[in-house]
Amino acid sequence: MKKIIFVCLGNICRSPVAEGIMLHLKEKYQLDVEIDSAGTASYHIGEAPDRRTIANAAKHGIDLTNLRARQFEVKDFDKFDWILAMDINNMNTLKRMTVEQKHLQKIKLMLDFAHSFSNAEVPDPYYGTEKDFELVFNLVDKACRSIVNQISTSN
Ligand code: 4NP
Repeated sequence: MKKIIFVCLGNICRSPVAEGIMLHLKEKYQLDVEIDSAGTASYHIGEAPDRRTIANAAKHGIDLTNLRARQFEVKDFDKFDWILAMDINNMNTLKRMTVEQKHLQKIKLMLDFAHSFSNAEVPDPYYGTEKDFELVFNLVDKACRSIVNQISTSN
């Protein structure tokens, strides 16, 4: 079983979208995966995703209302196989949390899985508008589908 955690800053805008889409695809394709998400920051621990994130995902048929924010912990390095950061800042924060090579090699940018996109990062939509939340959904959705392809072909 592949264990994947998606990581952004607050765990209320970007990584919950990745978690919600992957949980949806897990159900749809009966995938043998464990999915989670977390933030590198503590600001929003225990909160539901941002209401704009919930509303945008709902438009695409993804329900995020049951998710609650948590902070990434050092023990997650052992628990997960792939640790996928939404942007370079958060990837670097994760890399500063460990010195172990076996942990460091698990850390990647999520959009490394969306090869045809010119974006390397999923931009933070927190101070943005509806269209920024829509971009997050589309980038993350594309990457999730690539991840599913990769998992399905490696089994
Ligand atoms: P996220 O977005 O990292 O995608 O969850 C943010 C959420 C909250 C803040 C920044 C980004 N904040 O500054 O509180």
